[in-house]
Amino acid sequence: MNLVLDLFRTRRSYRKYSEKPIDEAVLKQIMEVGLISPTGDNFKTVELILIKDKDLLNEIASMRKAAAMLRHAGAAIIVLVNTQKTDLWIEDGAISASYMYLAADALGIGSCWIQVRARDAVDGKEFEENFKRNSIYQSI
Ligand SMILES: Cc1cc2nc3c(=O)[nH]c(=O)nc-3n(C[C@H](O)[C@H](O)[C@H](O)COP(=O)(O)O)c2cc1C
Repeated sequence: MNLVLDLFRTRRSYRKYSEKPIDEAVLKQIMEVGLISPTGDNFKTVELILIKDKDLLNEIASMRKAAAMLRHAGAAIIVLVNTQKTDLWIEDGAISASYMYLAADALGIGSCWIQVRARDAVDGKEFEENFKRNSIYQSI
């Protein structure tokens, strides 16, 4: 039995959550994995924002149908990549998110990737541009 291979085989996306708060230490471990994930040229380009505030989670949930499950989530982790540091930002961000997907599963936390890059918000405007104008972005 290889635990890592088992994790790869059994990991799934979860879109229904129990509303139980997630232990701070567990969130820290998941984010640590997201930050030690490999980056092109080892430039360490990834930055993470942890959102636990219910109002903020609801606000993001209302911006895109595919994000609706955030209304019941204990937390969201936003993956940002510094485009000034690398031209491989899509790859760096995707790897970090993938690592956290697996780490969450290993720690018994159901999670789901929510795509916002290159996607529109419900008002038909680009999600990222909307997000930057939003109170969430202004408050971080
Ligand atoms: C790049 C990428 C974008 C995704 N975007 C969304 C999304 O916006 N909303 C969602 O509910 N699931 C999203 N997912 C989850 C996929 O739908 C899911 O991984 C796929 O259906 C396979 O299911 P599994 O993860 O349970 O194996 C995304 C996954 C990836 C890798």
